Amino acid sequence: MRLPDLKFSEPKTYFHEEAYLCKHQKILIFQTMKHHSIAELLKGNQAWVAHQQQADPTYFQKLATGQTPPYLYIGCSDSRLPLTKFTQTEPGEMFVHRNIANQVCLTDINFLSVLEYAIAHLHVQHIIVCGHYYCGGIQAAFEGTTTGVVDSWVNPIRELYLQHEEEISQLPTRQAKLNRLAELNVEAQVKNLYQTSIMRQVLREDHAPEVHGWLLDLHSGLIKDLNVSTEAWQLYPSCLTANLLLTER
Ligand code: CO
Repeated sequence: MRLPDLKFSEPKTYFHEEAYLCKHQKILIFQTMKHHSIAELLKGNQAWVAHQQQADPTYFQKLATGQTPPYLYIGCSDSRLPLTKFTQTEPGEMFVHRNIANQVCLTDINFLSVLEYAIAHLHVQHIIVCGHYYCGGIQAAFEGTTTGVVDSWVNPIRELYLQHEEEISQLPTRQAKLNRLAELNVEAQVKNLYQTSIMRQVLREDHAPEVHGWLLDLHSGLIKDLNVSTEAWQLYPSCLTANLLLTER
């Protein structure tokens, strides 16, 4: 469908209807779409820059001097949830790593380098692992119908589902099951976080950032804190063993 040309001075919102089939039902998603072309994205950038400069003429000079973000955000690549928007945070406040279904993968050099840089060089004070309800990655793992590389990527979530199948199967609706799996996934990724070399190191040195497990509910827009406290996870057996080994030396 060809969309009408837009003059940026007349911002308009169009409703974009996207339909796809999942295993059991047809879902219609209505999204508000502001931008329809690359040219419009660039115009949007220019308008935003002008707005920022009007509010603070030194805004970009300050931004260019460097970053000291207090937060590392590990989230899902899903286009609907830039956490900066949902938390009203500005450029410079969140260091970000995103992938499908917010995985903390211990063999992912991309993730591990982001984590190490965030902890060792940026000295972030908080790490937020933020999953979300209505996650396509969770759904793919639950249904086991994905093919290709994504199938391999979400397989750990599939394993997680099979581990908790008894609990999950007792939930009344398909959505409740998916929601629970999304929560279990965040817990598992927080646990994985504590298994990384850099986290174990800063835990031993007693300056580890605080870790938070969150779920963003796209249906309400609200964030749910799973209260997966740093203190509790520090007692995870392998971390405890590492601490004991260090003490014994
Ligand atoms: Co997702």
